[in-house]
Amino acid sequence: MYLRDEWYVAALSLELEQRPLSRQILGEHVALFRSASGQVVALADQCAHRGYPLSLGTVIGEVLVCGYHGFTYDCAGTCVAVPGQDRIPSKADVRSYHVVEQGLWVWIWMGRGDPDFKKLPETPWLIESNEWSSVSGVARIEAPFHLLVDNLLDLSHETYLHNGSIGTPEVATTPIEVEVDEENQVVRVFRHMNEVECPPFYARTTGLEGKVDRWQDIDYFPPGYYLLHARLAPVGQPPLPDGNDDHAFHMKIFYGLTPSTDTSVYDFWALSRDFCVGDDDIDRFLEKMQAGVVQEDVDALTILQRRAEGTFEGNEVSIKIDRGGLAARRMLMAMYDEAASQS
Ligand code: FES
Ligand SMILES: [Fe+2]
Repeated sequence: MYLRDEWYVAALSLELEQRPLSRQILGEHVALFRSASGQVVALADQCAHRGYPLSLGTVIGEVLVCGYHGFTYDCAGTCVAVPGQDRIPSKADVRSYHVVEQGLWVWIWMGRGDPDFKKLPETPWLIESNEWSSVSGVARIEAPFHLLVDNLLDLSHETYLHNGSIGTPEVATTPIEVEVDEENQVVRVFRHMNEVECPPFYARTTGLEGKVDRWQDIDYFPPGYYLLHARLAPVGQPPLPDGNDDHAFHMKIFYGLTPSTDTSVYDFWALSRDFCVGDDDIDRFLEKMQAGVVQEDVDALTILQRRAEGTFEGNEVSIKIDRGGLAARRMLMAMYDEAASQS
């Protein structure tokens, strides 16, 4: 079962060229493309004629032409031309999805009704500016969505799985605080590590050496949006009482968790930083490092899924580090229950 009345990341902005992209989201095949005028479009990836994937078609100006026999669709999914006759059958349209391009990410509304724009996450950091520089990427994982939720809500795994890049011993040993905000449907996990080793990921980019204060504050908005606020600062220099924190380095680490099928999930990521803004070398370094970190997660979750088919019910042993993940599971279960009661 999927939570459909939600926004999910469907693509990276840079993936969308005029050549269509095929993506399976919440079990549905979607063709995504950018029209000649720059509009981002998402249509059901199945031609009304014989079902050929529209993602194999060609974008010409503001229309998409099916690659099999040429049924032609506009950006709203309306069939505007068929070959060999003037009359267009009344049932020749395909579904179009609401999409919103917001900086580096393209969001899709998978619900059947009108989209709820109040639910669309605000990600101003992902929009190009003089204050933030960002990089992004995506991986597909052959493991269920909930394994990715578990993974991201418990960062103690950094110490072991990502020990060459972002993991240091203190990530696993520092206790977390968990806050569940039922009203706004967000799970927050705080881990403030003071006077700890600066891992290579941050040492190379911030120039900080030796010990630092390193904070990780997670906001998870179930189901599909996760934001980690990372703060790196010289030891003993917290934000000032008025909130000013200019002496620290900040990175926002975003994940878009988009179920593809029951047993696969897209792991969209983006990093935004308020230091070395506009530095291409740092962009390339972070892209490479983060892609490596994500690949380590991909490998681990794929192994977990293969070993146990993703189900550990009744066999898990949870400890304090799992409190964030367990809170996320509870919130998701309540959302599934509510969705089921409405369907
Ligand atoms: S299947 Fe698309 S035009 Fe025939
Ligand atoms: Fe990880």
